[in-house]
Amino acid sequence: MTDTTQQDRVLIFDTTLRDGEQSPGATMTHAEKIEIAGLLDEMGVDVIEAGFPIASEGDFAAVSEIAKLSKTSVICGLARAQFGDIDRCFEAIKHAAQPRIHTFIGTSPLHRAIPNLTMDEMADRIHETVTHARNLCDNVQWSPMDATRTELDYLYRTVEIAIKAGATTINIPDTVGYTAPRESADLIRKLLENVPGADEIVFATHCHNDLGMATANSLAAVEAGARQIECTINGLGERAGNTALEEVVMAMKVRNDIMPFQTKIDSTKLMNISRRVAAVSGFAVQFNKAIVGKNAFAHESGIHQDGMLKNAETFEIMRPEDVGLTETNIVMGKHSGRAALRSKLENLGYELGDNQLKDVFVRFKELADRKKEIYDDDLIALMRTATDPE
Ligand code: KIV
Ligand code: ZN
Repeated sequence: MTDTTQQDRVLIFDTTLRDGEQSPGATMTHAEKIEIAGLLDEMGVDVIEAGFPIASEGDFAAVSEIAKLSKTSVICGLARAQFGDIDRCFEAIKHAAQPRIHTFIGTSPLHRAIPNLTMDEMADRIHETVTHARNLCDNVQWSPMDATRTELDYLYRTVEIAIKAGATTINIPDTVGYTAPRESADLIRKLLENVPGADEIVFATHCHNDLGMATANSLAAVEAGARQIECTINGLGERAGNTALEEVVMAMKVRNDIMPFQTKIDSTKLMNISRRVAAVSGFAVQFNKAIVGKNAFAHESGIHQDGMLKNAETFEIMRPEDVGLTETNIVMGKHSGRAALRSKLENLGYELGDNQLKDVFVRFKELADRKKEIYDDDLIALMRTATDPE
């Protein structure tokens, strides 16, 4: 058994209500946001990014109320590198027991071109805005947006300025999901080695999933020294989404032997919050989504079902209870075998002799060839015709 008490803590920063809600069509109502924030708080999320207060009156109201209701999580609001944004953000979060201002600016050549700032002008802006945020709030996070496409020397320079101006967390966003695991790790390692003051702050990793590598990139960054992962429930987020909270949490739990890090997340609450976020955002979870998909703990093939009935560990690396499910789902279909059929029928209250099972199994296969999934009602109907000669 691994001794987890001495392991490094990785903070979980959830941005479902900010980056997740930015997903086109994922808008949530005020009441829905309050509900999701409550579930995140209860689940043990360290920091909830509750919204972007300057974006709309609705966002401001939701962030303010979440700040007032929060019990244990730090409540964070997002602000561009502008005094007006930062003031509005602080207005919204100031009632939280633990408020955080998160301010950002795009530092890569493509992003610098948008406000048309020179490197020096942007450096000054970072100094002024982080200083301003820090004068309002002790807990300030700064992000160089598109960090993974920013010139390394300029990234060092801007991160150093933000640290000197009082940022307590430096987030390294892979805004367009461009990086790869080794590069993600190298970047954090280089920042820790080359930026003065880097050992006094927390580095965060914020990955997008455009190439399907957000989870791997986040975990690689943690292995290199990042101690905060920014993520969303179900990986909700713009384009291909953000790092999925449930994936990084369960990866560090299940593979704690090679990723010895602790989080405060109660993983048994994952399934419920996943379902609530899917319902309120209108973004259904894909069936084969890791951890929370409908099929993540479902087995149809005969060999797998037989193995599962003998020892669940043959085909499952986590227990369904660990993510809040009550049991593994044995799905009856044309790939199912006799052992699974017998077990399913026993659960439905039918005890079958070998000959009877043989007969029912033949008819079950005929039905399964016609119908994709066989439900309990189908099996009950099959048993009626089997036991009733009429
Ligand atoms: O992806 C990104 O760069 C962001 C920033 C605002 C942190 O979401
Ligand atoms: Zn983002």
